[in-house]
Amino acid sequence: MNKVVWDMDPGIDDALALILALKSPEVRVVGITTVAGNAPVEMTSVNACRVLEYLGAANIPVARGAAHPLNRPLEDALSYHGSDGLGNCGLPMPLTSLHPLKAWDFLVRSVLDAPGEVTLVATGPLTNVASAFKLQPKLPELLARLVLMGGAYSLTPYGKGNRTTFAEFNIWEDPEAAHMVFNSGVDIFAVGLDVTMDPSTCLSNQHLEQIRDRNTKAVRLAAQLVEYEVKYHGCCRMHDPLALAVLLDDSLLDFTLAKVEVVKGNNWDRGITRILPSDNLQLIHVASAVDGHRFLKLFLSRILEE
Ligand code: RIB
Ligand code: CA
Repeated sequence: MNKVVWDMDPGIDDALALILALKSPEVRVVGITTVAGNAPVEMTSVNACRVLEYLGAANIPVARGAAHPLNRPLEDALSYHGSDGLGNCGLPMPLTSLHPLKAWDFLVRSVLDAPGEVTLVATGPLTNVASAFKLQPKLPELLARLVLMGGAYSLTPYGKGNRTTFAEFNIWEDPEAAHMVFNSGVDIFAVGLDVTMDPSTCLSNQHLEQIRDRNTKAVRLAAQLVEYEVKYHGCCRMHDPLALAVLLDDSLLDFTLAKVEVVKGNNWDRGITRILPSDNLQLIHVASAVDGHRFLKLFLSRILEE
């Protein structure tokens, strides 16, 4: 059982990953923190609460975090995720209140209360994670590990950028935060576009047909989210569910150990995640291959669970 605190920017694929987590016995989500990324932080916070309430998990606390990257304004991706950040799925607005702590304080408290036990999952820009590490420099060594969706490492033909030609959105949004986290010494499992843009991991209408007749809340919500992306983007990219899948079945992805440079600043190379010659320092696990068929089979079977 993985005890998980999750920093996210829902976002359609964050929401799909959360549905997967709530239906998977290998994961116990004990807290969620929200960050600006796909949408402004007020919206990502409301969206996390909307999904949790709809699926009967409103007991999971949600603590709001950064409204913008460490030292630059937010550039959101609502043009991709729809005006509400969740594919305009029509989920009711939440009744639950946010946790009183700021995300970084919540992250620090969660880890200090259970040293070595918490796996941090991060599927948005790393602004909150960097802020928590700055607040408590011991945090990297007190985490079981950090599983993140982010980066493009040129390990496969799909490992190119999606926000720029070279850079992946989460890293590009806050490269200073990513640089700090990647050099913090935390045990990182990075799931990048090298595997999440593999066509074998993309949900299509054909996959939806397999679940459409099942009338559960999780299936109805997942179908609406997927339908929006299929309608406007051709297929539904499973970036964040693939990061979560690391905790469900570690045979789905292969990882390679590598030293990774994150490029900061505002030039053409902002947010590039470059694999450097290994010097056996600050190595991180980078996803290098995926069994897309088995991953999608697992995803579909789990959301069908009653
Ligand atoms: O590049 C894809 C990542 O950026 C995903 O986590 C998506 O939700 C956005 O946050
Ligand atoms: Ca995300």
